[in-house]
Amino acid sequence: PHIPVICIDGPTASGKGTLAVEVAHELGYHYLDSGSLYRVTGMAMRRQGLTPEPAHEAQIAALAEGLPLQFVKGRVLLDGEDVSDLIRTEAAGMDASRVSTLPAVRRALLALQKRFRQLPGLVADGRDMGTVIFPDAPLKVFLTASAAQRAERRHKQLISKGISTTLDSLRADLEARDARDSSRSVAPLLPAQDARRLDNSALSIEQSIDQVLNWWQDTQ
Ligand code: C5P
Repeated sequence: PHIPVICIDGPTASGKGTLAVEVAHELGYHYLDSGSLYRVTGMAMRRQGLTPEPAHEAQIAALAEGLPLQFVKGRVLLDGEDVSDLIRTEAAGMDASRVSTLPAVRRALLALQKRFRQLPGLVADGRDMGTVIFPDAPLKVFLTASAAQRAERRHKQLISKGISTTLDSLRADLEARDARDSSRSVAPLLPAQDARRLDNSALSIEQSIDQVLNWWQDTQ
């Protein structure tokens, strides 16, 4: 049976997560936050006393392969512990970005990601949903926004969670992460050839949702 998938890829803090959650909600579809898998892998790595280096690639991949992960009501549980907030820090994002350059880690997470494709459908957000994980998806969106916009959004998000940072350091972090994500040799952050581009710098979240739902209708 052909199970529908909508892929939403794009750089850090482009608003993929919010958009994907809302579209999934509108359609009654499942949701995959693929970045959380790399974030949890990074966390599991640190807890084993490992660092995100090629020398530890096989060990980190083995951890990724057997992650005792559960997704319950939008929360991420690692070995039963709710790590949803812990994996959202900038440090965790940097670790995620580093482990995600390791090919064995990406391979280890491949099957896990594909298993999220279940009826009635899936909305998947990440960097390589449309290019690598679900290349046959009927709708692929590549979401962008200016670096200034993205840094500002991330800043608000973190402040609202009581995490203090400065706009400048956030912007520097975003740009470093984007540069690494775009230049890595395996599954770099690139729009799929058949992706539709959406720059949401000047759009409200509702306008972005409507755009994606309209595109989705066009594919039906
Ligand atoms: O989307 P999020 O910021 O949570 O992703 C954290 C990191 O995980 C990204 O910077 C990227 O390096 C990596 N990632 C990836 N492929 C994905 C999703 C995330 O390489 N599909």
